[in-house]
Amino acid sequence: MTVFNPDARVQLVLGTQWGDEGKGKIVDLLGEQHDVVARFQGGPNAGHTVQIEGEQFILHHIPSGILHDHTICVIGNGMVVDPETILTEIEELEDRGFEVCGRLLISENAHLILPYHKIIDKASEGFKEDAKIGTTGCGIGPAYADKIRREGFRAGDLLTRDWEARLREKVRINNLVLERVYGEPPVDAEDVIGLLLRFMDRLSASIADTMHYMQACLREKKRILLEGAQGTLLDIDFGTYPFVTSSNTTIGGVSTGLGIAPQRIDHTLGILKAYTTRVGNGPFPTELAGDFGDRLREMGGEYGATTGRPRRCGWLDLVAAKYAVQLNGVDSLCITKLDVLDTLDEIRICTAYDVQGDRTGEFPVSGEKLESVRPVYETVPGWKTRISSLTAYGDLPDAARAYLDRISDLLGIPVRIVSVGAGREQTIIL
Ligand code: IMP
Repeated sequence: MTVFNPDARVQLVLGTQWGDEGKGKIVDLLGEQHDVVARFQGGPNAGHTVQIEGEQFILHHIPSGILHDHTICVIGNGMVVDPETILTEIEELEDRGFEVCGRLLISENAHLILPYHKIIDKASEGFKEDAKIGTTGCGIGPAYADKIRREGFRAGDLLTRDWEARLREKVRINNLVLERVYGEPPVDAEDVIGLLLRFMDRLSASIADTMHYMQACLREKKRILLEGAQGTLLDIDFGTYPFVTSSNTTIGGVSTGLGIAPQRIDHTLGILKAYTTRVGNGPFPTELAGDFGDRLREMGGEYGATTGRPRRCGWLDLVAAKYAVQLNGVDSLCITKLDVLDTLDEIRICTAYDVQGDRTGEFPVSGEKLESVRPVYETVPGWKTRISSLTAYGDLPDAARAYLDRISDLLGIPVRIVSVGAGREQTIIL
């Protein structure tokens, strides 16, 4: 595979929609040319799917670079780590022949998702009448809430002398919340300690000061790939709040979640799926309800990699994508799943919104306003040809190239990669 952007030592890959853009495949692909692959936010809510020679891998915590023998994978301080899930993830990778622990670093400042966080996540959703977020139920929100309330428990705490006593106290307080607020049975502190001892048994040597590690990598001019999770529109600050995740999925998350200064990022690659999906609740202007949306879901295999939930599907929304490009300073684009549109007669692109009679190209930050917008579409012809075996841009049908060119023109940045299937080889580098 041709080396992508050889001048960039530090590259960021992030999602420009509501997640599930296909970042895992691209990080795996680019990982080959990098020494270090690091994640900076989120946790097991992510489900990064990589397919190698017909075999599928779904990664939740561990950076998608792990599938290349030479890369060091870093879980930054901005992530939340579920000891139970990560142990399973490691075991599954080891069973399939990958060496993990010796190549994995976990920030000592990364917060842990403890069993009560998962119970609270699910129970609090059950309490809501009409504003359920539709979380992944992985305990993400409650773990980040504890971090912000300064009541979290970090990986590095496990390296201190009296951690068991402090953990018992946290479990005691959270059990009160579980019982009195949610009517849920308490968690057994000794079970939690047992889980963390198993975590330490496998991973104590991986817990590290990853900020200084990343700084050393920068000094040594190592090639670093930064792997975003979820997508721009799920960002806690810039997303469609409250229907968002609990971390900064946008470029700022790299600095706060890994300790890398913004100006050290040489290139930001935005991943844009050729149509739009969203899992969970919240506004989605270009959503296709009904048969056609169902057909798109089946054509694209749009079911959650973490929860198996059906994803909501719709046309490509370039108003939202423009917002993501601006927010993240995206330098170039990777268009994924272009082949899913192969059979369509015509394709629609949302180029503007009508908001109470006014036309705008600006993505509204208010959720209420976003609920009421009407998308304005441009219709382009489909290519009606199977493209998933093509490897050169020049071989793509004219209509497919016209679709890509239109996206590039409207967003004002070049398309550098086109993905036409799940396999590593089903990728066109421009
Ligand atoms: P949470 O991150 O589990 O708290 O879920 C909050 C919202 O983000 C829900 O709408 C989820 O469906 C969505 N979400 C979280 N992680 C992902 C992801 O990796 N892909 C797509 N949506 C996600």
